[in-house]
Amino acid sequence: MAAKRPDHWTSKAYTTSAPFVPRLTSTVLSYLSPKPTDHILDLGCGDGVLTSQLASSVPSGRVLGLDASPSMIETARSSYLAHHPNLEFRIQDCTRLVEALASHPELDGQWDKVFSNAALHWIMRAPATRESVLAAAYAALKRGGTFVFEMGGAGNVAEVHTALIAALVAQGVPVLEAREASPWFFPSEDWMRTELEKVGFTVEKCEVEYRPTRMTDEKGGGLAGWVRLMGAEFLEKVEEERSEEAVGFVCELLESVVTREEDGSVWIGYVRLRAVAKKL
Ligand SMILES: C[S@@+](CC[C@H](N)C(=O)[O-])C[C@H]1O[C@@H](n2cnc3c(N)ncnc32)[C@H](O)[C@@H]1O
Repeated sequence: MAAKRPDHWTSKAYTTSAPFVPRLTSTVLSYLSPKPTDHILDLGCGDGVLTSQLASSVPSGRVLGLDASPSMIETARSSYLAHHPNLEFRIQDCTRLVEALASHPELDGQWDKVFSNAALHWIMRAPATRESVLAAAYAALKRGGTFVFEMGGAGNVAEVHTALIAALVAQGVPVLEAREASPWFFPSEDWMRTELEKVGFTVEKCEVEYRPTRMTDEKGGGLAGWVRLMGAEFLEKVEEERSEEAVGFVCELLESVVTREEDGSVWIGYVRLRAVAKKL
């Protein structure tokens, strides 16, 4: 049996440090363009903010959100199920989506749309899982169905990524190990287009947008909160009592890179990769 993964996610930390993730989605949602009868599968649905919006836009359809985090799924269920009879959430490690579809034939080949926002760069971190995740998205769709997603693309949050590696190295972690601690895979559009085509998709759109994103001003949020939540797997590489030192190091190192002169606001360099791919 696969080892149980630690759950780094909580809805509280997510809404304090990264509430913009489910909000900055107008482009990908316009590509999804839900029809009232659509059946939509949401991979890495998080705490369900966006998934519940999808459910509202398909009143005669159905939405299923899958996420590996028990904490996020618990929040999603308690926040949204009562208001949306066509919505369901399940705990599911999407790196094992192929197996999940095989053991739940009611999910296999049943979806008009497979959707994902800000999750595939986590789900596809391990090279061995990448092709199978895309193949599972393909298998889950009906013929004529569409896979629409947004994720981190090549160069996403490069300054924080680099600073996190530097913080580990500063605490004595060898550089190769520090790199390997990264929980993310940020592919280029060329890589993604090729891999989507390899599993059978016809790619209608595959594009990249540089979208600097402002950190929150919330207590417990800001850049430090973002680093604690999103960089949790890096921080596990240092002794627990020195974890805050590493967070402080990252913020200190980045201070002049991420702070805007005019108002002191803090921005990091998000790069979004979006695609629309058809199963013909
Ligand atoms: C940045 S959040 C995005 C959540 C949501 N899609 C949104 O737009 O708000 C990333 C989500 O990916 C989930 N995730 C990471 N690895 C996963 C995996 N292997 N399988 C399923 N979900 C995963 C996390 O638990 C987290 O909820």
